[in-house]
Amino acid sequence: MIPEEKIAEVRERAGIVEVVSDYISLKKSGANYLGLCPFHGEKTPSFNVNPARGIFHCFGCGVGGNAVTFVMKMEGISFPEAVKLLAKRVGVTIEERLPTAAEKRRLDEKEQQLAIVAMAAEYYAGLLLRDRAGEPGRHYLAGRGVESEIITPYRLGYASEQWDGLSRYLRQRGVPLEQVERLGLIKPKSSGSGYYDLFRNRLIFTIANVHGQPIAFGGRVLDDSLPKYINSPESPLYNKSETLFGIDMARQAMREQRAVIIVEGYFDHLALYRAGIRNVVATCGTALTSGHLQVIKRYAERIYLLFDADSAGRKATFRGMELVLDEQLPCFVVEMPAGDDPDSFLASHSAEEFNGLLAKARPALDYCLRDLLSRNDTGTVAGKKAVIDAFRPLVQKLADSRERNLYVSELERVLDMEPGSLTRGERTQARPAVAATERRVSDPALSLLALLARYPEIAAEFRAAAVEELLPQDLRPLAAKLLECIETGAGVDFSALIAPLAETELGRALTGVLMDDSHLADIDPHRALQDYRRALEKQSLQQLDAKSLRRELQYLDSDSPRYMEIMAALNDLRNKKSQLL
Ligand code: UTP
Ligand code: MN
Repeated sequence: MIPEEKIAEVRERAGIVEVVSDYISLKKSGANYLGLCPFHGEKTPSFNVNPARGIFHCFGCGVGGNAVTFVMKMEGISFPEAVKLLAKRVGVTIEERLPTAAEKRRLDEKEQQLAIVAMAAEYYAGLLLRDRAGEPGRHYLAGRGVESEIITPYRLGYASEQWDGLSRYLRQRGVPLEQVERLGLIKPKSSGSGYYDLFRNRLIFTIANVHGQPIAFGGRVLDDSLPKYINSPESPLYNKSETLFGIDMARQAMREQRAVIIVEGYFDHLALYRAGIRNVVATCGTALTSGHLQVIKRYAERIYLLFDADSAGRKATFRGMELVLDEQLPCFVVEMPAGDDPDSFLASHSAEEFNGLLAKARPALDYCLRDLLSRNDTGTVAGKKAVIDAFRPLVQKLADSRERNLYVSELERVLDMEPGSLTRGERTQARPAVAATERRVSDPALSLLALLARYPEIAAEFRAAAVEELLPQDLRPLAAKLLECIETGAGVDFSALIAPLAETELGRALTGVLMDDSHLADIDPHRALQDYRRALEKQSLQQLDAKSLRRELQYLDSDSPRYMEIMAALNDLRNKKSQLL
């Protein structure tokens, strides 16, 4: 527990330039400082530090934040750890205080929930290790060649056929069952009272957080019945789009090797673990998300996709690769013989043979190009066009312009096209980073905040025009805080302002517009305020449904611009609907 004031003091004293300079070298460039981004590979600097506002932002890969988030990312540590580390460096002493009553309740609740899942894990493990009821599970594991010694370190378990085994076990230990229900481990019976267990007759995989604390389970049937797996539902402890199975076991190895292998299945993870390959995580029954990649980025910088060699795996590979490229992380695809998954491959091949596959992993775009060539008849114009259309958007995601050019040349070569023919007549493609910046700058909500930050004199007008209510929900608290700072004359602490949004997509976009607001120089802020406000209104209009539009019409003057806009939008909606029918 670190007191808020201490966090603020650390933020104030830790100059962003000094903090960043401990890790990378910065050069002054105008009002900002510039360096090579430590979070993605680059040869020309696009990593910016704004000392006046206490923030950093990379226009190459989009990361952004304040001094604390920078240290978190660099060191791969948590928020309180980063605050403490910085506090030491800048000479702020932090006496840990006791949590307040409300904080304590929240903490206690989480502790309790973790304890409940841990008890459930023990229950399942106990059955598999030594209970008679666990015999089918032991038999199944043996049949798949899994040695029993692995049960404990890997935290396997078994759920018996009893419909209330877990509820009884936990109730006997004084656990309130409503709590267990909130964690999705038991469900209320539809008739009568009481609960039944979610997992029955299943081999249990324990899903843990990065600290190794169990938070959820996945359970596999022992025969061919369906569904093959069921997983815990999301719960206060378990967020599927940010949880990777095996991350706790893989963390150390990911750091050492700076790389991670992503597989699809629990058994794939287990097979690699048994083969001594530890920097492996699995998505548990969900597609890879950018949330998963944010977690991975704390520990690894190269990504190997190792999905099943079937059509579903191929699709997952393409989707995954796009996400990884969006994060500007180097991405490789590991290929296996058709029909295999890592588990089946290792059942009939040695770990050395598997390492051979890893060594032959191709850069994602190589894999992709070869795959497209094998699926399209490039003897035809239509085939060539299909390859070009699928491949070029992926190439555009690369940050390095030379690498992009090389792939385009390669594309021309394999399609028997004249060198340069694909780019001739086009304006040289803008760097994706720049395009992304343009997009951000043209986002009226973010632009409005940047405008207010640069021209505090429009605060009263901002308030009067009720701009705040037009902003997306997650930006409103920030706008309110900014207005408050300006109105009270307290001065704006940008690094504190963006802190609640750190590590989010929006937070990154925000550091981008706040980093360099030179596009706002020499403009009339009052006009700009009204322009952006109207743009926002238009945007929110597109998201509204016809009913609320008609309601708003009743109160409008029929020749006001807003009235016209709504009429046009209603027309639009009607056309869209008639097209659908
Ligand atoms: P697979 O069907 O490839 O399973 O699904 P697997 O891991 O290879 O298992 P075995 O070898 O057939 O026993 C890959 C992953 O997708 C999720 C699970 O996480 C599984 O490990 N999945 C699959 C589900 O969540 N539900 C399902 O019904 C099937
Ligand atoms: Mn599989």
